[in-house]
Amino acid sequence: MNNDLTRIRRSALHDKIMPAAEAVKLIKDGMVVGMSGFGGGGEAKTVPLALAEHAKTHPLQITFATGASLGNGIDKKLCEANVIARRLPYQSDATLRKAINAGDVMFTDQHLSETAEQMRHHTIAQPSIAIIAATAITEDGHIIPTGSVGNSAAFAEMADQIIVEIDQSIHPSFEGAHDIYVPKARPNREPVPLIHVDDRIGTHGIVVNPEKITAIVFNDIPDRAASMADPDEETLAIAKNLIKFFENEVAVGRLPENLGPLQSGVGSIANAVFAGFEHSSFKNLEMYSEVLQDCTFQLIDSGKMIFASGSSMTLDTSAERVMNNFELYKDKVVLRPQEISNNPELIRRLGIIAINTAIEFDIYGNVNSTHVTGSKMMNGIGGSGDYARHAHLAVFVTKSIAKDGAISSVVPMVSHVDHNEHDIDILVTEQGVADLRGLAPRERALQIIEHCAHPSYQPLLRDYFERACAKGGHTPHLLNEALSWHANFEETGHMQA
Ligand code: COA
Repeated sequence: MNNDLTRIRRSALHDKIMPAAEAVKLIKDGMVVGMSGFGGGGEAKTVPLALAEHAKTHPLQITFATGASLGNGIDKKLCEANVIARRLPYQSDATLRKAINAGDVMFTDQHLSETAEQMRHHTIAQPSIAIIAATAITEDGHIIPTGSVGNSAAFAEMADQIIVEIDQSIHPSFEGAHDIYVPKARPNREPVPLIHVDDRIGTHGIVVNPEKITAIVFNDIPDRAASMADPDEETLAIAKNLIKFFENEVAVGRLPENLGPLQSGVGSIANAVFAGFEHSSFKNLEMYSEVLQDCTFQLIDSGKMIFASGSSMTLDTSAERVMNNFELYKDKVVLRPQEISNNPELIRRLGIIAINTAIEFDIYGNVNSTHVTGSKMMNGIGGSGDYARHAHLAVFVTKSIAKDGAISSVVPMVSHVDHNEHDIDILVTEQGVADLRGLAPRERALQIIEHCAHPSYQPLLRDYFERACAKGGHTPHLLNEALSWHANFEETGHMQA
């Protein structure tokens, strides 16, 4: 594709256009690099891929910050080229995961709302260079993002120089999809003036000093989201259980008829749950979430959902249809910085129902979202903690067993805690729903064992709980047994072998 100069409407910047192989020479060993990209949406591509090539002959290591995970094999290629010394705040790449678990890459696994905040207040290092994917640059030099906003606005504000990657795979009509509001540093912070899910409180583009734009590169590689597994028997049962629970909450008057704003986590289970809304009786659904997936647009198309606010669009099957016809969605969708999509003040104000996926949870309601057998990082906490802690209803879903039954996802004690018992309201598996609201630990254990555990593990959990209760305590445990299921799995490949 030819370079479309009309996308750079501030003509004084035309002399900053250069090949990616030139632009990456601005990135030096030891730098903190802040790049756009969130879940495979809105990332720069040409520049990081050129950096991986460049590093083969000019070794360098960087601290690499983004909005969240990346697509297009970027983390894999940078990791293989030994470019990443530290990664934050989230990832989901198999090669990088291996390097993290080997201790070769330092991974700062953060709540997604906090990265920019901590950089702004210098508790972690600010980026000296920002790489931002753009649909266009306006006459004023504002950068119009692409498929995500993530941390781009904060990175661009803090960095000394900015490399803009004009993404020609994004239709120009995408301009107007974003609402950029960047909180001020304390002590001058003001309340975020967002009262409704569809409020617009900022600008269409990222406001920068155009003199900081030191390189402009063109890109034709499209955003690519990971393909989603089709719903299976268990994920459909989880969706059915959750929807039945919501229907009852509406019937008894605890939730409004449209439920209130919904947040959905990433992954195949969350996707199946949202697909389940399609055939539910709820109307006028609203989303206040971080990632808008295919299911969001299916719900909008069918008229079930009236508005969706996110920080990123990670589309698979609906990508072409949505991106090439975006005019149809412009009054129904907005993309915001992750400091706003995941903002605790707003999550509490809006009364969000947060639905996220657990790796495992324990009989008292503590949730592990990140670590397999306590040590091995899977992806990271992402935004699940931002939402769960501040939500009106914090829901976690998971299948009751994993690895063909060798693992119970309901355990005596989680091997790692991401979300503690005080934050969790509802747990759902294909077996049923545990409603933990207002319960004491011993009551929660009965709910969880009886409603969520797999029948093959229920007798073992009951036995553990009864013996622990005989010993006493507010949250009864047998300390030399509490993690024995995980230890068994590590030694034998089965929790109960
Ligand atoms: N112990 C060990 N492994 C387990 C497990 C358990 N209790 N439960 C699931 N797994 C494994 C699965 O077998 C699967 O392994 P595989 O990749 O080898 O097939 C893997 O974990 C993923 O499970 P899956 O059932 O496919 O679920 P998912 O795609 O929905 O992902 C999480 C689940 C928890 C990994 C994912 O949701 C996540 O990373 N969450 C944290 C971030 C987050 O919540 N973000 C939301 C706001 S953005």
